[in-house]
Parts: sequence; structure tokens; C-alpha cells
Amino acid sequence: MKTIQVVEGDITTVAADAIVNAANTTLMGGGGVDGAIHRAAGPALYAACEKFGGCPTGEARITSGFNLPAKYIIHTPGPIWHGGDHGEDQLLANSYRNSLTLADEYDCRTVAFPSISTGVYSFPLGRAAQIAIQTIREFLQTASQVEEVTMVCFDPTTARAYRTAVNS
Ligand code: APR
Repeated sequence: MKTIQVVEGDITTVAADAIVNAANTTLMGGGGVDGAIHRAAGPALYAACEKFGGCPTGEARITSGFNLPAKYIIHTPGPIWHGGDHGEDQLLANSYRNSLTLADEYDCRTVAFPSISTGVYSFPLGRAAQIAIQTIREFLQTASQVEEVTMVCFDPTTARAYRTAVNS
């Protein structure tokens, strides 16, 4: 039985097989969830990310979880919102799909996502939630290993948006 659930909390505490980091294209850390994950995972994460030499928007890279309870961290730079006519929707869908593809390749059964691009990157929350849930649903139809996807929302407004998307 494949499931999508929505919880409120701090993704650095989630013991999923893989947690996803809303990174930037340098993969060298930042604020928001990226900063929280780097702080919790420890300095070895920085060195592991350095070897990628960055990551294009919408693509994904995987590292160990280091000091996190999660086995893996999947880093994906989501799109920065520029009004919606610069391919942002497709790039956001790519971030979710490419992260799930990597999780599947690494035999992850459970995957946790933050709300990619809806913080510093200013992607409209309701629109992002619809794209995220639709992309996750499509992926789960053909996934071979991934069975449970959890949206870990940092505040009630974000959680409400994803619950609305799941129930639509
Ligand atoms: N756990 C779960 N979600 C979190 C956490 C956390 N510990 N901390 C923040 N968030 C939430 C934010 O509240 C927001 O809903 O993650 C969502 C994404 O916000 P950002 O972290 O700002 O990410 P994003 O909008 O994708 O911007 C990425 O911000 O931190 C930098 O290096 C990062 O340049 C990149 C940009």
C-alpha cells in the first residue's frame, strides 16, 4: 500500500530512509531547511557535497545522512519563483520526481520532503503543494521500492496547504 502523509515538524528529526533537502545550486548550504540539515548532519556533509561541484535546478544528488537519523539525504535545488512563466512549475515537479527516482535507486522505502521552494524561493504555497502531491502520486504508481512519502511541514499554514492538496 503506497501512502502520502502530511505531518508538522522538523525534518532533521525524521528517521526516514531518505530525507530531501531544499538546497541551492551550489550545494554548499544556506539558511532555512538547508541550514538546519547541515547543522544537524555535521561538517562531513559539507565535504560530501563539495565533490558534486554543484547541482542544476530540478536535479538531485544523494549523500549519506551522517549524524541524522535518516540514512540518506537527497539534495535538490528547487526553482526560484519569477512569476510563473519561466518553467518554474516543471522545474519544481522535476525536483520531486528526480529526488524520488534517486530514493528508489537506493532502495529507500520511506522518503520525507520539506515544502521545496516555498520559503526563500517564494514559490506560491498552494501551487507548489498541488504540483508536489501530483508528482509524488504519479511516481508512486510505478515506484519499485518507495512506499511511503511524508511531507514534513514546518508550520500549520504549510501543513494545511499540503493536506488540501492530498484531499483534492
Ligand atoms: N524542517 C522542515 N521544514 C523546514 C525546516 C525544517 N527544519 N526549516 C525550514 N523549513 C521549511 C520552510 O519553513 C519552508 O516551508 O522548508 C520550506 C522551504 O523553505 P527554505 O528552506 O527557505 O527553502 P527554499 O524556499 O527551497 O529556498 C532554498 O534557501 O536555505 C536556502 O540554501 C537554500 O538557497 C537555498 C534556498
